[in-house]
Amino acid sequence: MANKASLLKSYKKQKQFRELKRILPQVFDGELLDIQKLKAFVGEDNFIDQANYELSWYDKKLAVEAAKEKCDGELVFVKEKSVLSNQSENLFIEGDNLDVLKLLKNDYQEKIKLIYIDPPYNTGKNFGYSDNYHLASEDYLEYLNYSNIGRVDELTQHKIESGEIHTQWLNMIFPRLILTKDLLTHKGVVLISIDESEKANLQLMCNEIYGEENFVGCFIWENKSISNDSTSLFSTVHEYILIYAKDKTELKFKGEEKDFSNYSNPDNDINGDWVPDNPTAASGNENSRFPIINPITKEEYLPPNGRYWAFSKSRVEEWTQSGKIIFPGETGKRFLLKKYRKELKSERKAFSSIISDIPGMKGTKELKELYPEGIPFKHPKPTDLLIKLFDQLTENEDFVLDVFAGSASTAHAIYKMNKNAGSNRKFICIQNNEELAVNSPAYKLGYSSINDIAIDRIQRAGKLQSASNSGVNYFKIECLK
Ligand SMILES: C[S@@+](CC[C@H](N)C(=O)[O-])C[C@H]1O[C@@H](n2cnc3c(N)ncnc32)[C@H](O)[C@@H]1O
Repeated sequence: MANKASLLKSYKKQKQFRELKRILPQVFDGELLDIQKLKAFVGEDNFIDQANYELSWYDKKLAVEAAKEKCDGELVFVKEKSVLSNQSENLFIEGDNLDVLKLLKNDYQEKIKLIYIDPPYNTGKNFGYSDNYHLASEDYLEYLNYSNIGRVDELTQHKIESGEIHTQWLNMIFPRLILTKDLLTHKGVVLISIDESEKANLQLMCNEIYGEENFVGCFIWENKSISNDSTSLFSTVHEYILIYAKDKTELKFKGEEKDFSNYSNPDNDINGDWVPDNPTAASGNENSRFPIINPITKEEYLPPNGRYWAFSKSRVEEWTQSGKIIFPGETGKRFLLKKYRKELKSERKAFSSIISDIPGMKGTKELKELYPEGIPFKHPKPTDLLIKLFDQLTENEDFVLDVFAGSASTAHAIYKMNKNAGSNRKFICIQNNEELAVNSPAYKLGYSSINDIAIDRIQRAGKLQSASNSGVNYFKIECLK
């Protein structure tokens, strides 16, 4: 039981807290003291904030809460929009992905191998879907309860301006990223498309959610060609795709095929195909600058100045006997060192972080083929890009989840992969029923929302594949009353 002294202390504290609220009501949000408002009121210089290293923004705590709040909806099957539903594990889910991700946890916890995230980039534009999360200055300042804007210094001014641009987007994406983590298998991976608008913020946020130690890398996707009409004579021709693993130690790429066409075996060497190897290296020490004597001509060889033999002295005798080193019968010619194919550490080469063979326009071209009557969606991702990535990181029976499906390029890519590779990969695509503007090209083509476009593409692409696993089950979120 609390003693009298502690009761008195707690009473005194409550009284002081009430007093604070009476004097400074503007730094309270209902009954709660809002630390951001207090900070804005007293000015950052008068505030000691020993925060941890992190990216912070207004309402970040609420964004974390949003991920924890229970979803009071359920997924309802829509038969009319489904195709070959009894043969398919593919899902298309209409709804806000914040709710859908929560509901998916019931059946797909630790079941998804790859999550693809292609969110609105926050460019401030409209592409048929809204890509503008910027706040009006007056709304943002009201958020912060910032009254002394006339007196801020340049640094604070920059923070305010950046806050207006990024706050809403960060609050949108943060809880959704948090929710993806539980869905990944222990070997799972998240790929996130983004451009310069939010790349810096996104990476810091992902470090916080998945752990910096699970940052695998970042693809640079060269999606455009240089624009010569830029007044600054600078042209950004790429986007990014961030890669985070659930556990980086478990993640392995398949790599790409090496070209062995220059390997051959003209001398019938019992060790098989080989290519001439460089016998010298850029680094070494004085022990690796020994003379090598040609046993036939007695000519002496030394590595060129500043270079070293790439092997130790003891190897020369052994490799001369085995035929790995071949000496010429005349002076003035270099000896030959063979590199055998069987000595290679891997028959495959590493997958490059720069992707430059798939232009962004390819996505639009694909839609043109599928929609001769007119293209209903701007800037879809090319299926070739998705296939290239999915192929590296998924296996035959894996599930791929696309959190911001748009025109359902992911579903199309999976259908193609299954047809071409005979695999049975499955997709889950989430798209909200974001309405289209009545003057938009897609609306004029007969679509009223983006999910309409997506399911139509899935159905058209599925028909083209005509494989048994090209069906889809359509679900939508309905509120529980
Ligand atoms: C960049 S686009 C995705 C494009 C897609 N990768 C493609 O190739 O067609 C982002 C999509 O996310 C959708 N979106 C935005 N907010 C959403 C939300 N809360 N839930 C579900 N979808 C959302 C937008 O309507 C838009 O279609």
